[in-house]
Amino acid sequence: MEKLLQQIDLYKQEIAAFNEGDAEVFRIKWLGSKGLVKTIMGEMRNVAPEQKKEAGQLLNDFKVFAEEKYLALKASATDTGITATAEIDLSLPADPLPLGSRHPISLVRNKIERIFQRLGFAVAEGPELEDDWHNFTALNLPENHPARDMQDTFYISQNPDWLLRTHTSSVQVREMEKGKLPIRIICPGRVYRNETISARAHCFFHQVEGLYIAENVSFADLKQTLYFFVQEMFGKDVKVRFRPSYFPFTEPSAEMDISCLICGGEGCSVCKKTGWVEILGCGMVHPNVLDNCGIDSNKYTGFAFGMGVERITMLKYQIKDLRLFSENDLRFLNQFTGAV
Ligand code: DAH
Repeated sequence: MEKLLQQIDLYKQEIAAFNEGDAEVFRIKWLGSKGLVKTIMGEMRNVAPEQKKEAGQLLNDFKVFAEEKYLALKASATDTGITATAEIDLSLPADPLPLGSRHPISLVRNKIERIFQRLGFAVAEGPELEDDWHNFTALNLPENHPARDMQDTFYISQNPDWLLRTHTSSVQVREMEKGKLPIRIICPGRVYRNETISARAHCFFHQVEGLYIAENVSFADLKQTLYFFVQEMFGKDVKVRFRPSYFPFTEPSAEMDISCLICGGEGCSVCKKTGWVEILGCGMVHPNVLDNCGIDSNKYTGFAFGMGVERITMLKYQIKDLRLFSENDLRFLNQFTGAV
């Protein structure tokens, strides 16, 4: 008991002298789970039974003493904090917060949407995970049709009927199946192909397809619509030309070229010395497609078109490598801050 009293006295002196230290250091040394207060409490075991009451009282007082010291240390630490805040120079300029910018693909997609919206086209969207019917069969591409080879994609092993859509023409089918006519839509979205990645091809890219179905829609309407689009997108000086082509879902079908923006039609490496660059496929919707989707092909006609957003973006901003769009390199992306 005598020893215990002495020890408590020594500890109290030490604690009273602890004035400059960190409150947390104090807490760990004295009040922590392996702290000295706990250790000295353990001395109760060695106290004679008739002295236990007195010793208990002393030890408890000592514990309170240590706890109060800890609270005092903590309070003075907060006080110092407040004084320090007052010394912060609030007139200093803040750290610059970098502003993000839209991805070039989004910029161009938005611009395409705005152009067609001015002509009365609505924006329609559909699933990226499609079934065979909407992506191929309804579009006059039955199973084993050789044209399916042009659009190899990724199939879902649990269900061979599911695939990642190869074009947004599947959204056109979904819209036609709703049976509400006339239809005047564009279908922007991400599409997939089983391609080896290079400067000119990727396993995913973006498209905007368009569809207009009503009575008496003609190829002249198609040409005028696309001509308007090109002029709004690339400027009034750009020329267009249509070349006959083949798509299973349109008849007749065409590909549209614009005069090369780099050389103005003189011939350069971008246009492979032809003066023209292809930008989209188009045509009059095949009657089989209309019938497949429940639309009377004797009464209604329509045109459709489809373009790659990456291709339009590359031409507009003279970007040479498709991979730049998906690498997330800020040195590339920052160049589009403020672009429209
Ligand atoms: N779906 C075609 C492709 O991805 C592009 C296309 C061509 C879409 C002609 C059309 C069209 O709607 O009429 O290659």
